[in-house]
Amino acid sequence: MSTLLIILWMFLPFYTDCIVFPRQDESPLIAVLDFRTTIDIFDPSDDGGNTTVIEEIHLRGGIGGASCAIDFNYRENLIYWTDIFVDKVYSLKADGVDQEQKVILEGDLSSPEGLAYDWIHNNLYVSDWRQHKIWVINPETGARKTLLPYVHEVRDLEVDPGTGWLYWIAGWEETAVLMRSTLDGQNQMVITSDLERPMSLSLDYDEQRLYWTEVYPVNLIKSIRVDGEDVTIVHRPGRHYDFTPKYITVSRDSIYWIQGFKYRVLGREKNNSREITRYRNLEKYGQWNMQKNIFMGILAIDPRKQTESPSLCGDNNGGCSHFCLPTLIQSTPPYNCACPDGMNLMDDNKTCSDEAQN
Ligand SMILES: *[C@@H]1O[C@H](CO)[C@@H](O)[C@H](O)[C@H]1NC(C)=O
Ligand SMILES: *[C@@H]1O[C@H](CO)[C@@H](O)[C@H](O)[C@H]1NC(C)=O
Ligand SMILES: *[C@@H]1O[C@H](CO)[C@@H](O)[C@H](O)[C@H]1NC(C)=O
Repeated sequence: MSTLLIILWMFLPFYTDCIVFPRQDESPLIAVLDFRTTIDIFDPSDDGGNTTVIEEIHLRGGIGGASCAIDFNYRENLIYWTDIFVDKVYSLKADGVDQEQKVILEGDLSSPEGLAYDWIHNNLYVSDWRQHKIWVINPETGARKTLLPYVHEVRDLEVDPGTGWLYWIAGWEETAVLMRSTLDGQNQMVITSDLERPMSLSLDYDEQRLYWTEVYPVNLIKSIRVDGEDVTIVHRPGRHYDFTPKYITVSRDSIYWIQGFKYRVLGREKNNSREITRYRNLEKYGQWNMQKNIFMGILAIDPRKQTESPSLCGDNNGGCSHFCLPTLIQSTPPYNCACPDGMNLMDDNKTCSDEAQN
C-alpha cells in the first residue's frame, strides 16, 4: 500500500483483478467500460501517448455483454454499472476480503443507459431509454421504486446529493430536453431545450455546470450552468461520423470523452480546445490492424467528488422504513419517505406496508 489503494478481486483462479481507487489526496483516475465487459482504469495525467492501463478488470456479463453506464461508491469500494445487452445493473465489491460481482437489478429493464449514485443517501438512480423511466434503487437490498414513470427517451442522468438535484437528458431532436428535479422526483424543471441529439451527461461539481454530448451529425460537446444560463459550445470535433462524441465525463479542469465510431478515448482541459490528448495505449488492435475495443461508458473516479456530508435524512434514514429521498433543502423535513413498487406508505408517512392504505 504505497501510493495506491490496491484491492484484489479474483475472477478466475488463473489471474487476479483489482479495483484501484485513488487516495483522498491523489488526482482522479479514469475508468472506461469496454463492450467486452472489461473496465480499464488509467491515470490521465500521464502523457497521453504513453498512458498505461493501471488495471484491467474483467467483468462477468452476459454473452457479449455491453456495459454502458458506470458510477462508483468510494466509501464501500464499489463500482456500479449497467449492461444494455443483458439488461442488468451490477455491482463489483472488492475490499480485499470480499470479492464479489452481484446483480443488483434485473427483470423489467429494457435499456438501462443511465446510472448515478447518491453517495450521501445511498440511493442509486437508473434510467431506461426504452421504458422511458427513472427508478431509484437501494443498492444493498435491490428494492426498486419507479421515481418518474414517464420520461420520454431518457438517455442519461446525474445526481448532486450536495445540492439535492437530479439531472437528466431525454428526447431526440424536437423533443430533446435537459431537466432537473429534486432527488424525490418532485419540483421538475426544464433547464434547457437547446439540445438536438443528446447522448451522455456529466456534472462538473466544482463549477456547477452540466456537460453533454450531441452525436452525429451534430457532433458537439456543450455545457450549461445548472440554473440554465450560459449555454456554451465546448468542443466541435468536426462533422465526420468518426468524430462523434458519445460518452463524457468531467473532472476538475478536464473533460474526457469516447469518440465513436472509431472508439478512441480523448481528453482536454475544459478551457483549452487546442490541445487534445488521445489515450492511444488503451486501443488494442487485432487482425488486419482493426481496433478491437468498443469503448462505452467513461467515468472520472475522483475521491474529492464523494466527500462525506451530513445526510438530509439524519442518521436514522429519516425514520423511513424503506426509501428516504431528499426534497427541497428548505422544506421541513427536507425529505420524503417512499416505498418500493408494490408497497404502500402508511398514515405515519414513514412506514411501507404490503397492505393497501385505507
Ligand atoms: C513513450 O515511451 C517511449 C519509451 O519509454 C519513448 O521512447 C517515447 O518517446 C514516449 N512517447 C511519448 C509521446 O512520450
Ligand atoms: C486553463 O485553466 C487552467 C487552470 O485554471 C490554467 O492554468 C490554464 O492557463 C488555462 N488555459 C487556457 C488556455 O486558458
Ligand atoms: C402525511 O402527509 C400528508 C400529505 O402531505 C399530510 O396531510 C399528513 O398530515 C401527514 N401525516 C403525518 C402523520 O405527518
